Amino acid sequence: MHIDRRERNFIIASIVLMFVFAVFILVSSFVMKIQVPQAPVPLGRVNPNTVATPGVSPWGDPVEERLRQVGPNQYEVYILGQAWSYQPAQITIPKGATVTFYVTSKDVIHGFDLQGTNINMMIIPGQISTLTATFDTPGEYKFICNEYCGIGHQTMFGTLVVEP
Ligand code: CUA
Repeated sequence: MHIDRRERNFIIASIVLMFVFAVFILVSSFVMKIQVPQAPVPLGRVNPNTVATPGVSPWGDPVEERLRQVGPNQYEVYILGQAWSYQPAQITIPKGATVTFYVTSKDVIHGFDLQGTNINMMIIPGQISTLTATFDTPGEYKFICNEYCGIGHQTMFGTLVVEP
């Protein structure tokens, strides 16, 4: 069977690329340990149907109590994503604060992309996504939903304010 030289080269290049990508995936998951986000025990998983119920989980607590100081300039915040908002949608912390974000969804898959940081998580119903960041530069940081979640997707955002 005759295959044009350039076509053959492209076939070979595609096959080589497939192996290169496979190596990248294996290295990122097994060597760099990049996995589906897992919260520390005992948080792990939640029931999305009851997660917003008062008394059941931290995401059921009043919105103004979701930001908690856990040490000197150390905070944790429990953010609930739902179509099409975050609760709380506004978080204020002092400069230099270290914040651990615990985020989950009670309906569909959302995103949590905190601009100006490397925080970019998928928010999956039933699962807790968590990352920690330190904020040394005062200002306003928007967090936005970057997973299409319905007709109000573009209105789903919040603000983290770092005070001087
Ligand atoms: Cu939530 Cu897009």
